[in-house]
Amino acid sequence: MSARSRHKPSPAQSTHFKPMQIVRTESELRDTIATWRQAGERIAFVPTMGNLHAGHLSLVTEARQQAPRCVVSIFVNPMQFNDPDDLQRYPRTFAADKAQLLAAGVDMLFVPEVETVYPDGMALATQVVVPGLSQRLEGEHRPGHFTGVTTVVSKLFNLVQPDIAVFGKKDYQQLLLIRQMTRDLNFPIQIVAAETRREASGLAMSSRNGLMDDKSRDNARKIHEVLQLCAESIKSDPRSLAQAQQQAERALEDAGFKVEYVAICQQHALKSAEIGDKALVILVAVQYAGVRLIDNIELSL
Ligand code: PAJ
Repeated sequence: MSARSRHKPSPAQSTHFKPMQIVRTESELRDTIATWRQAGERIAFVPTMGNLHAGHLSLVTEARQQAPRCVVSIFVNPMQFNDPDDLQRYPRTFAADKAQLLAAGVDMLFVPEVETVYPDGMALATQVVVPGLSQRLEGEHRPGHFTGVTTVVSKLFNLVQPDIAVFGKKDYQQLLLIRQMTRDLNFPIQIVAAETRREASGLAMSSRNGLMDDKSRDNARKIHEVLQLCAESIKSDPRSLAQAQQQAERALEDAGFKVEYVAICQQHALKSAEIGDKALVILVAVQYAGVRLIDNIELSL
């Protein structure tokens, strides 16, 4: 990104007294977006499912640096939950989220109802599918999940019409899918990737962390530790991919995690890494203390 395109919040924007518009309907959203567009203001967008933590807020900070207008959406998207219990248990903390976004200097918070996003229900709604990439790893373990994600994000893109949208590397496969979808469907939107924010222990911040008790949450730091060790072991012997993968899987099992996958992949396409590949990412999904956790680490050889 050029220094020119980097937007510096004006003093007025960096104070916390700027009003934040809370919008629930499509017409209200379109009216405000049209006003900003007429004024020639660029718009940065951060889609979320709420229960906001410092990871989400770092995306907002990035968005505010990139454009004068920042829109955040909170929508717990039923289409991307393959497990009804998970959807029901998903933490909803609107009052706290709203206060954090106001303090972060967000211009508009879009909080549609399910009926606004899927007026005719989900069953017969048009879907956006990214073949291939959406079937692997997360897609294999959560059938239908990514169709829900790409469908809702394309709808949100069409509603908000941002110039820039920010996504976290925490959900690495999601980020790659959104990039591909944006390219394939010719959305004129720049996708910006933000680094994963972690708790002091190293555990990746996640809305699901709050569903664990303190002891489990403390033990969950081992996911990041194992990823770091695995990355170190590949760096010291780049030919040991299979061995490093097995060791990581065993270490996680020994620490009490039910491992769904440990995959060492090429960063760009998430194809299985081969000896000689330079840009790698190790991705992990585990179940632990009744919660499903994902994390990843990039490494360059
Ligand atoms: P949600 O899980 O709320 O995440 C919203 C955004 O925050 C995603 O881009 C995610 O990658 C990012 N994020 C989550 N934890 C993070 C962390 N520890 N550090 C940095 N970024 C983090 O991802 C979704 O919602 C949904 O699938 C969504 C894209 C909104 C579509 O419904």
